[in-house]
Amino acid sequence: MKQQPGWVLPNLREAQKRTHQDSKIERALFTIPAQCQGIGRGKYYYLRTYGCQANERDSETLAGILEDLQFTPTKDVAKADLILMNTCAVRKNAEDKVLGEIGHFKQLAQNREDLVIGVCGCMAQEESIVSTLLTTYRHVNLIFGTHNLHRLPELLYKVMIGHEKCVEVYSKEGDVIENLPVHRFGKHKAWVNIMYGCDKFCTYCIVPYTRGKERSRQIEDILDEVRTLKQEGYREITLLGQNVNAYGKDLGIEGGFARLLAETAKTGIDRIRFTTSHPWDFSDEMIEVIATYDNIMPFIHLPVQSGDSDILKIMGRRYTIEEYKTLFDKIMARIPNCAVSTDIIVGFPNESDEQFEHTMDIVDYCKFDNAFTFIYSPREGTPAAQMEDNVPMEVKQKRLTRLNERWNAYALEKNKKYEGKIVDVLVDGPSKKNESAYSGYTDTNKLVNFTGEGVQSGDIVKVKITQARTWSLHGELLKEENK
Ligand code: 5AD
Ligand code: SF4
Repeated sequence: MKQQPGWVLPNLREAQKRTHQDSKIERALFTIPAQCQGIGRGKYYYLRTYGCQANERDSETLAGILEDLQFTPTKDVAKADLILMNTCAVRKNAEDKVLGEIGHFKQLAQNREDLVIGVCGCMAQEESIVSTLLTTYRHVNLIFGTHNLHRLPELLYKVMIGHEKCVEVYSKEGDVIENLPVHRFGKHKAWVNIMYGCDKFCTYCIVPYTRGKERSRQIEDILDEVRTLKQEGYREITLLGQNVNAYGKDLGIEGGFARLLAETAKTGIDRIRFTTSHPWDFSDEMIEVIATYDNIMPFIHLPVQSGDSDILKIMGRRYTIEEYKTLFDKIMARIPNCAVSTDIIVGFPNESDEQFEHTMDIVDYCKFDNAFTFIYSPREGTPAAQMEDNVPMEVKQKRLTRLNERWNAYALEKNKKYEGKIVDVLVDGPSKKNESAYSGYTDTNKLVNFTGEGVQSGDIVKVKITQARTWSLHGELLKEENK
């Protein structure tokens, strides 16, 4: 499909570039342009979110904007006047799933001329995906990217009132925009962005292109948000960034993430988590701060990606496996009850059997509490996608199966240590099937299903663990302790 006047299409080459200018911070209050006000009155929106927590948080902003426009949420896609797919580009199979879903909406679009079908998020930042959407998925009439959520009112106006297909994807990040509306999906747990984008450029990863350069929020803006959340009754916050350790480096904020973490702890909010940490710039100060404050949870997601130093080098990870082990040991020595989870990619181009065995070795060494394991997926525009790959898919699949069996065994072994112990659980809510069964998470991020009475979601309660499984712990509420 030819470029139409007014369209802004993504451009990979532009997205690859980095400027050295600091991003500006836009603090003006968000206002809905006069002509857009009330355009959602009497209309329903259906919003689907894929991918990481950054996308979850973006969806909360989208929901906030849509509700300011007076749209009403629905979980029934057939009832929706606006369908919005907030997508993830990190692996091809996730993309295929989304495209399949979008394909299903064709029927709905045929019966409803005024139906708006929108695609946003990381897939919308990709040239080839947008081109596929424009040529093969013609029923999609709204495409926008990760850098211009705030433009949603005007974009919807063009589609709904102007009856035109609207494509607006900025390849370069803009200002850091404060004060966007937000409809938080959780009542007790909240996401807090501390920075956007990524400058690490791991050779397999598309995120630096879809999310732009690293831009930090100001420390006071973050702390104000946390204090407000605390006042509103939130008990847990998760500080979000593609690599939180780099927090503040772009703005020269003294003390960086360690300082932000300590200041956040001083707000007194019950539970603080953070994700994701890159092993390369995980400082000793950070370990010290996590060890010092009781309200910083002893749980670290520390993606290793591979157990082989040569592969790590080609991945552009900036650490050797020895350095990873040293960091891991330092964390465990200072925070002995710390749970550590990881991400691992198998079948990176030309990964040999021996190199894969090194990945099995690091699993044996760290005995991770949890692992997210993936088969390498080539992403257009990344350096790794140019590499020849001599590893057949069956080999990659076998490696993945072996790896999963191995880390699962350790996860069970770790969970077994909880049997007979008493843990603090932040209650998510009662189970759907059984009113006297509840679930929630420990400080170490273990899912606990437990029985008890008189428990409310948002409570932090003591639970005695009676049984451990690979994925969860089971227990009973301790009545006396929770009086
Ligand atoms: N192929 C497979 N897995 C990937 N990840 C990122 N890019 C790719 C890719 N091209 C994984 C990494 C990362 C997690 C979010 O997704 O393990 O940490
Ligand atoms: Fe997916 Fe990465 Fe985008 Fe998150 S930032 S939605 S993981 S591609």
